[in-house]
Amino acid sequence: MAFETINVDIEDHVALIKLNRPDALNALNQQLLTELLKALGDADGNDKVRCIVITGSDKAFAAGADIKEMSEMSFADVNDVNLFATFGDGIQDIRKPVIAAVSGYALGGGCELAMACDFIIASETAKFGQPEINLGVIAGLGGSQRLTRAVGKAKSMDMNLTGRFMDAAEAERAGLVSRVVPSKKLMEEAMSAAQKIAEKSLIAARSAKEAVNRSFESTLAEGLLYERRAFHALFATEDQSEGMAAFIEKREAQFRDK
Ligand code: HXC
Repeated sequence: MAFETINVDIEDHVALIKLNRPDALNALNQQLLTELLKALGDADGNDKVRCIVITGSDKAFAAGADIKEMSEMSFADVNDVNLFATFGDGIQDIRKPVIAAVSGYALGGGCELAMACDFIIASETAKFGQPEINLGVIAGLGGSQRLTRAVGKAKSMDMNLTGRFMDAAEAERAGLVSRVVPSKKLMEEAMSAAQKIAEKSLIAARSAKEAVNRSFESTLAEGLLYERRAFHALFATEDQSEGMAAFIEKREAQFRDK
């Protein structure tokens, strides 16, 4: 499938997916969501890929769902089995680590897309927001749920009710993003984080991702049990023997995902 609204580059085991609708600040229309989901699925199933990075442009990661397209939709349209319904689940099914590299606007569906990734690295210019209330609607892809879990009720209510934007510094303080870097360094930082992840055992990386995600879905006791069992299970892998042997022998581990 040839993509028109995104670009995909695979280099050194990292798939870099760049949203590419510059005239609309990367607004997420149905075509872009379809292509993005396809590219993510392809990367997840591609043995050469060990980590995925999603990014936009300097000015906008994504300014939200495409309002022009959405304005024509009826209840039946948005309720139908279209990508507003399936995209959120689709991205959650990706098992390889996914980093969002955010510069400029990450609003509405754009903020929600970034939050659906495993973590966010932001440039100093990043602005996050759930301004759907200004359009007479509310967040529909996790902006009332993932944002609340990330930053707590006070800030989430503030953003969802007033529609105000949060800048990168506030987003870092609030725990929405893992790192903030100067704009020029954003891609270098994101790709280097992705490279670091790509060097690990993919079995362990998937396990870590699953365990962290589990914490959102379970009680502490259940989450701890899940983590402990996942930890035990990794002792059945060659990568565990290799990782520990490499430490003792003072050399780099050669993980084989086995
Ligand atoms: C469609 C959009 C768009 C969007 C920007 N554009 N955001 N088109 N959908 N979400 C288009 C503009 O219409 C304009 O096109 C071009 O991009 C440049 O935008 P400007 O507004 O001229 O840029 P600027 O003045 O710099 O303002 C940037 C901005 C503003 C603050 C980001 O564009 C803005 O407020 N955008 C909407 C943000 C928003 O409300 N997002 C939430 C959407 S709802 P033209 O052709 O005029 O040049 C949502 C729901 C998710 O995301 C739930 C899904 C289930």
